[in-house]
Amino acid sequence: MKQITESPDLVVFGATSFVGKILCRYLLEEFGTRGELKWAAAGRSNAKLEALRSSLGAQAAALPLVIADAADEASLRKLCASTRVVVSTVGPYALHGEPLLKACAETGTDYCDLTGEVQWIRRMLQSYEATARKSGARIVHCCGFDSIPSDLGVHFLQRQAMKQFGVPCTRIKMRVKAMRGGMSGGTVASLMNVVKEAAADPALRKELADPYSLCPPSRTPKVRQPTISWAQLDADFGAWVAPFVMSAINTRIVHRTNALSKRAYGADFTYDEAMLMGRGVKGMVGATALTAGLAGFMFAGAIGPLRSALARFVLPKTGEGPSAEAQRKGYFDLRFLGATADGRQIRTKVTGDRDPGYGSTGKMLGQAAACLALDVDKATKPGGFWTPATIFGDGLVRRLSDRAGLTFEHSDSRH
Ligand SMILES: NC(=O)c1ccc[n+]([C@@H]2O[C@H](COP(=O)([O-])OP(=O)(O)OC[C@H]3O[C@@H](n4cnc5c(N)ncnc54)[C@H](OP(=O)(O)O)[C@@H]3O)[C@@H](O)[C@H]2O)c1
Repeated sequence: MKQITESPDLVVFGATSFVGKILCRYLLEEFGTRGELKWAAAGRSNAKLEALRSSLGAQAAALPLVIADAADEASLRKLCASTRVVVSTVGPYALHGEPLLKACAETGTDYCDLTGEVQWIRRMLQSYEATARKSGARIVHCCGFDSIPSDLGVHFLQRQAMKQFGVPCTRIKMRVKAMRGGMSGGTVASLMNVVKEAAADPALRKELADPYSLCPPSRTPKVRQPTISWAQLDADFGAWVAPFVMSAINTRIVHRTNALSKRAYGADFTYDEAMLMGRGVKGMVGATALTAGLAGFMFAGAIGPLRSALARFVLPKTGEGPSAEAQRKGYFDLRFLGATADGRQIRTKVTGDRDPGYGSTGKMLGQAAACLALDVDKATKPGGFWTPATIFGDGLVRRLSDRAGLTFEHSDSRH
């Protein structure tokens, strides 16, 4: 067991990233620096960390700074020795994330992050799950827009279904009703890296297409999963739908949650996600255009020269992302429809009051990290790789509703 005296409860590694700065500002507003939750900011550049601390104002004057490099194992082990929880925003995780995760797993340090890179999570599970179980490190990936609203949204719906019907819903659909936000350089780099890896590796393409790729092999269900990969009419929502890019990670996390909870959602549980595009001809045209645009983007990302041109001339660079005003004006509204095996239905929704990927993600990651540091007990939630719903569950639903601008509620309307 680690002896911590005046050490921070948690350290933000990648504090100088675009999303790391948002997270630091949020932690400062919510917790100060030495109150209920003691935290420190870490990164590879002292000058950048000092600049970040100055930008946070006088309240951050006592914020401890820690130097560590994602490629320097000794510095990462020192970082782990200084705290109980590391929250990392250093991405693409598939390029920079493994040494830190290894250090956390080996030293019994709790860890959470913002990765949505399924292939990397799978590699980390295969390499470090046994180590984390032994050391007591709780590893929680996907603590941002992917995949907290989906994972906790399904968890919340199932809680309501159990209360109302006494059984879970075996079929759930999540539909993005509205969403306003942008992308940062790190998100683009992570997405491009997955597309690049997949273009070069047929086995990886097969793995990425498997809805159960993050389920423990012994608990992988057999039931075929629905996928929305083209424009189509969804009668349950009375609207056209188009593919939702985040479903590639969100659905894998929701299925992992079901597998880790001894199939609490049912052995034949099915789940899919899509974007609601409206009714009639307008809805059809919008859904078709979005599907074509997405396919074109993926195609361009898979071809080296086009990928380089996109990265160079079109997409945001590292450190860039939506403006503070765009984050404030952003939002998301996700609708869930659940049906029990005998056809009883329930509708719920999850909303956020900032742009999904940054304003809201900073708050979700901050509260997930606080939950890990302050709420979840090692006796009931021991070391290993968890999902947000399995380790945090109702506790994080409460934190997000009370302190992060999210709502989880019943919804009466069909759209
Ligand atoms: N799940 C979600 O909803 C969600 C939302 C937003 C972002 N993300 C993910 O979060 C990650 C960060 O995105 P972003 O746009 O904020 O990234 P970013 O601005 O490009 O920042 C990347 C960070 O990584 C740091 N870094 C790179 N190499 C390092 C090394 N060797 N040692 C230490 N630090 C190193 C950089 O440090 P310097 O500052 O010193 O250069 C920088 O702080 C991405 O993987 C993105 O996909 C996920």
